[in-house]
Amino acid sequence: MAKKVIFSGIQPSGELHIGNYLGAIQNWLRMLDEYDCIFCIVDYHAITAPYDQKELPQRVYEAAVAYIASGLVPERCTVFVQSDVPEHVELEWLLGTVTPIGDLFRMTQYKDKAKDFAQGQSVASGLLCYPILQAADILLYKAHGVPVGEDQAQHLELTREIARNFNRRFGEVFPEPATMLSEARRILGLDGERKMSKSLGNHIGLTETPEQIWEKLRPAKTDPARVRRTDKGDPEKCNIFTSYHRFFTPAPDLERCAEGCRTAGIGCIDCKKVLFTHLRAALDPIRERADEIRGRRDYVLDALDQGARHCKEIAARTIAEVRAAMGMVPRR
Ligand code: AMP
Ligand code: TRP
Repeated sequence: MAKKVIFSGIQPSGELHIGNYLGAIQNWLRMLDEYDCIFCIVDYHAITAPYDQKELPQRVYEAAVAYIASGLVPERCTVFVQSDVPEHVELEWLLGTVTPIGDLFRMTQYKDKAKDFAQGQSVASGLLCYPILQAADILLYKAHGVPVGEDQAQHLELTREIARNFNRRFGEVFPEPATMLSEARRILGLDGERKMSKSLGNHIGLTETPEQIWEKLRPAKTDPARVRRTDKGDPEKCNIFTSYHRFFTPAPDLERCAEGCRTAGIGCIDCKKVLFTHLRAALDPIRERADEIRGRRDYVLDALDQGARHCKEIAARTIAEVRAAMGMVPRR
């Protein structure tokens, strides 16, 4: 029997970080054997927010390097760049005809990002239509599941609604994709206040050097009640513990740090050193692999070409089916 299809994507809007890793990529890696996996670098999405066009090509390339270095290798899954398959945009337009505009204005990501547009500058309509494009990404491959962090749950609810609206109006074409949340649903940034995000500068990059990581980790906020080394703390109130230790540090060390925090038996810096060791165990191999493949442009670009060719085949079939269902004449 054919494997079920999984689709997900990350925007090439900056360096990939450990929030992307825990919230998305780590979950994807666990699915490689069981599912037919398609992972996209969503550049059409990335251009809906203010960006530097000179930097975009390099960001797309670095995202591909990070995907492959993390283990999303072309032998085990499909990796491609969204704009290499323009059918995404065609389907977005077609789905736009069954998407209520009120639903788009309701999206929290839209409301948050609309604020980033400079005062007096009107918000681009592409930002409003962003979730329709996301629905198109997923429905183009008739994906059964979409592994993402919690911030994408609302977009996926809308994707299911768009699929239902389409099917009701034009006949059963699309399955309703399931939201597959990771255990690490929402990783906070080093500021301990906001979601870790490429644009906020509160992140630990997936391919940063150990020196760069330690420089950020050392001064990062812990439990505010621990002012002095001798103050007892509560690991549940420490962002370093709840956001990072919990996911990178294995049980015996994790418990030792939690207990040490409660009894003031371990200082915050020593506790961070334990985390740093385990962070390195996870990230060093990714960085080393990235350093190795970054210069092999042919290998990276071939992987993306192979991915795009595979996706184009599926996309062309779905578009033909959708056009027929909608009563549009077949392409000659
Ligand atoms: P983005 O970087 O916004 O393109 O997000 C790509 C994927 O990473 C999506 O599945 C997000 O839900 C996930 N993600 C991004 N930031 C975080 C975070 N701070 N915590 C957990 N998941 C995240
Ligand atoms: N909107 C997603 C994000 O910001 C990225 C994305 C675009 C995506 N298309 C997708 C995620 C399709 C999953 C499936 O994280």
